[in-house]
Amino acid sequence: MASLTYGKYLRLKELLACQAPESAKAGRPAHDELLFIVTHQAYELWFKQCLHELDAVIAIVGADFVHERDVGRALHYLERVIRIQGVLLDQIDILETMTPLDFLDFRNLLTPSSGFQSAQFRSLENRLGLERTQRLRYNEAEYEAALDASDRRRVGAAEREPSLFDVVEAWLARMPFVRSPEFDFWREYRANVTRMLDEDRETIERKAQLPAAARRAQLDELERTRETFEAVFDPVKYERLRAARQRRLSYPAFLAALMIMLYRDEPILQGPFRLLTALVEIDENLSLWRYRHALMVHRMIGTKIGTGGSSGQDYLRRTVEAHRVFLDFFNLSTYLIPRSMLPRLPAEVREQLGFRWNA
Ligand code: HEM
Repeated sequence: MASLTYGKYLRLKELLACQAPESAKAGRPAHDELLFIVTHQAYELWFKQCLHELDAVIAIVGADFVHERDVGRALHYLERVIRIQGVLLDQIDILETMTPLDFLDFRNLLTPSSGFQSAQFRSLENRLGLERTQRLRYNEAEYEAALDASDRRRVGAAEREPSLFDVVEAWLARMPFVRSPEFDFWREYRANVTRMLDEDRETIERKAQLPAAARRAQLDELERTRETFEAVFDPVKYERLRAARQRRLSYPAFLAALMIMLYRDEPILQGPFRLLTALVEIDENLSLWRYRHALMVHRMIGTKIGTGGSSGQDYLRRTVEAHRVFLDFFNLSTYLIPRSMLPRLPAEVREQLGFRWNA
């Protein structure tokens, strides 16, 4: 049997035969079309790798019991996704060496195809946990309308399975330490938040130079902050925020995430803290990509509609805000208080949260 070669292992004959410019087929080759094709194909390969990593993370975090060392492994894969996202962002710089006029040499030949039909991109969104109800409508239809039957099946399967958001939420909701018989953390936290906000009120009231209208506005703002904090202590108020779609996490998951953020210096909470931070970073990078892509589209086609028929860069820009997945973890910062005001953990609780080898 012939020995394995580099080319055979990587199936390079097939891979390098997959670039077929439409402009050449039409008899007027456009130099930059190869760059356009190679860039998209490189994206799809990286999307494949990201899906592979996310599937592994979902399996780990979705297990009935998640050991500390498993959190480390999940984190490792998420950090890989973050690095890949860096490359995905950088690839835009390469594609932008193609000028709008060069793009026009072959753009019309691409109609009606569009990046909107990337099944792997939709699967990524679904595996992360983008909800159907969040999605902006495209050409007055659900997103699958743009996909062919086999892609629709694949993307649908990715949507039906539990997403990364789902498994992280369930894992947080069953986290121990959030309520401890030895220590009513939330009562003490509430007392300190009240003290912090009362001090802020006094500061505003004491500002002698402040015009009355500005003082009123600042005090109103302070009361709104107080209301926001109330949702932490009152599940009914929290559920109201959820019903208004201002929060997505369940109440127990939200409390656990907040506790992790506040006490992340405790050794056992380090892994969970880094995991939540990785989710924030992935969401931020995806938003950055969406925005960079929208700017690139504006630069390439101005305000023309897309080859797929959408309002082009206008639709894409709106997805930057509408298609966020881990927004709740960004919003946790609202509820942080200075370390100096954090309730001190009783010795038994600290013991549980620490590693013992140096005890
Ligand atoms: C010259 C460069 C590009 C232009 C002018 C362009 C244009 C567009 C436009 C106008 C849309 C909106 C849908 C439509 O009506 O067609 C779109 C969507 C999309 N494009 Fe691009 N694109 C470019 C490069 C890329 C690259 C390199 C990728 C990498 C995979 C990509 C992936 C996507 C994806 C995933 C969507 C769907 C986004 C969403 O619905 O949130 N595009 N593109």
